[in-house]
Amino acid sequence: MTGHLLVVDDEPNIREVLRIVLEAEGYDVREAATYGEAMQLLGKTTFDLVICDIVLPDGNGLDLVRSYHAGHPDTKFVVITAHNTPAQALTALRDGAVEYLSKPFDVDELKLVVEKRMQLRSATSPAPEMFTFIGRSRAMWPVLERIPQVARSDATVLITGESGTGKELLARAIHAASPRVERLFVPVNCGALPEGLFESELFGHMRGSFTGAVRDNPGLMRAAEGGTLFLDEIGELTPNSQVKLLRALQDRKVRPVGGSREFDVDARIIAATNKDLRVQIEEGKFREDLYFRIDVINLHLPPLRQRREDIPDLVRHFVTRACDRLGMKPKEIHRDAMAVLENYMWPGNVRELENVVERTVATESSYLMTVSSLPTSILGSATDAGLLPALAALPESGFDIEAHLDAMRRELMRQALERCGGVQKDAARMLRMTYRAFRYHAEKYNLTMED
Ligand SMILES: Nc1ncnc2c1ncn2[C@@H]1O[C@H](COP(=O)(O)OP(=O)(O)OP(=O)(O)O)[C@@H](O)[C@H]1O
Ligand SMILES: [Mg+2]
Repeated sequence: MTGHLLVVDDEPNIREVLRIVLEAEGYDVREAATYGEAMQLLGKTTFDLVICDIVLPDGNGLDLVRSYHAGHPDTKFVVITAHNTPAQALTALRDGAVEYLSKPFDVDELKLVVEKRMQLRSATSPAPEMFTFIGRSRAMWPVLERIPQVARSDATVLITGESGTGKELLARAIHAASPRVERLFVPVNCGALPEGLFESELFGHMRGSFTGAVRDNPGLMRAAEGGTLFLDEIGELTPNSQVKLLRALQDRKVRPVGGSREFDVDARIIAATNKDLRVQIEEGKFREDLYFRIDVINLHLPPLRQRREDIPDLVRHFVTRACDRLGMKPKEIHRDAMAVLENYMWPGNVRELENVVERTVATESSYLMTVSSLPTSILGSATDAGLLPALAALPESGFDIEAHLDAMRRELMRQALERCGGVQKDAARMLRMTYRAFRYHAEKYNLTMED
């Protein structure tokens, strides 16, 4: 077998043994003695497989795996565990990300584990499609045309958009197009981090600084050194964590919990949220100074229902990918079924479309997907272009028909304006409204200010 391997262990004789055995198998082997060295090598070269000790003098091998794997799904890992390694730490890693080798190991076991991992690699072809960002609708232009320039700069980016609109994919695409691509893309889900862990997870901690801190941890921010730190769901941060983050972003420095020294960090920040942070600020839930710090470049992903022209491309992309993964011949989709998909509201946006397409591909046994292959949940609204709420599903508290009609009118006016390149007279004619009435409503709905 051939492949580029990296061995990370602070014990020189273990590295030596691994290198000799694996080189004899035909692999190209590099060595690193510390977390820092490993990071540097990983930043420069793409490895097929990394064999990594957990306890390193300057960090934790599991953090290395976690942060590197996120941006490089096709690099495989083998973690060397000592018998006293807490099983908990291991299961914390995503399934399938790693294989274990427990110390002391014998040479045959080592060869077997490495071979197994490398085969897995050749079976799952590398996934350049991961960053394929589909969309060429007019509504996406403001985002698409700025990607190259945004990727070249180091400025902080705030990506906004409803759930499932592709915020994380866009962040990865920016990282992939940036000069930082060789370094890590480190995602942090701010909503999932309990307040008590925020500081130590992000800025790291020194061994013994609190119960459970059994070894030094460099933290996610330093793991993103030279790369990109993706602060997902930033609107979920507690006030306390907001203060700490603001300070770190201002100084571009972090001090690990329990440490006396500060470290400079050079990580490009991309934040994302599905909340309206300005509303959060008004409600006193989000700090305005932090908002100004992250909202340097704002990229807004419009909901899918406002860019239906992208649906056919997305559907074809997901169908091809699903058939590929399931080892099927490419399936076709009937025109009528496509029309249903184009007309549905997609409250869950692209993620929902992706799920529906994948489910349909998997359950339709013939080569052609028709309307009857589609899940019934999306058929209901097909006839009304997704604008009518299902009366049966209304809450008992009732329903504000005026507000709904307003919302419908506003959406139709917005689409008409978009089609007419923002010319109100033409948009009014398209909707058979008087110019006066159009202007009146446009002002009422604050339409000209938008999009
Ligand atoms: N333009 C696109 N082209 C191809 N795939 C897309 C596109 N937008 C989104 N997707 C896919 O849809 C799914 C949801 O995207 P992503 O996770 O980036 O959304 P999100 O905005 O972060 O959602 P959430 O707010 O729920 O976290 C992903 O599987 C992603 O690959
Ligand atoms: Mg997301």
